[in-house]
Amino acid sequence: MRLNIKISINMSGSITFTMVKPAAVADGHAAAILAKIAEGGFKIKALKMTRLSKEQAEQFYAIHSERPFFGSLVKSMSSGPIIAAMLEKDNAVEAFRAYIGATNPAEAAAGTIRKTYGKSIEDNAVHGSDSDDNAQLEAGYFFSQFERF
Ligand code: CMP
Repeated sequence: MRLNIKISINMSGSITFTMVKPAAVADGHAAAILAKIAEGGFKIKALKMTRLSKEQAEQFYAIHSERPFFGSLVKSMSSGPIIAAMLEKDNAVEAFRAYIGATNPAEAAAGTIRKTYGKSIEDNAVHGSDSDDNAQLEAGYFFSQFERF
């Protein structure tokens, strides 16, 4: 007889990490953006409002440190509070990237979060992880095991 054993780690999908960026928070869009995220079927597994120091923003975006926009990205990301969240859905990284729209709000599809709330490629309303590995790393940067549900 063959036994089929499925191991479940209390998760019904994969995870991604997002931040509502400082400009979108300052403009009062945080609640609407979180509502839109929930509407898209992304389950909130962890959530917090916090502010990145310049050093923390540099560390978070270290992968872009050689890019010409790094300095102003760090400045904008550390300019005020952000909302950080860990989200769960099937194929979460790809699904969320499609849902929020292109990096540049000017190129994002109508109805996406970045099209609706983004002001520029830098202040593009929300961050979304670009791979499963980065989602784990980024979520680990903000949330301990005791802050994940
Ligand atoms: P985010 O999803 O937070 O990941 C990296 C960020 O770098 C990206 O969103 C943009 O805000 C920013 N970014 C990417 N490309 C450019 C660019 N060409 N000019 C300015 N900022 C950029």
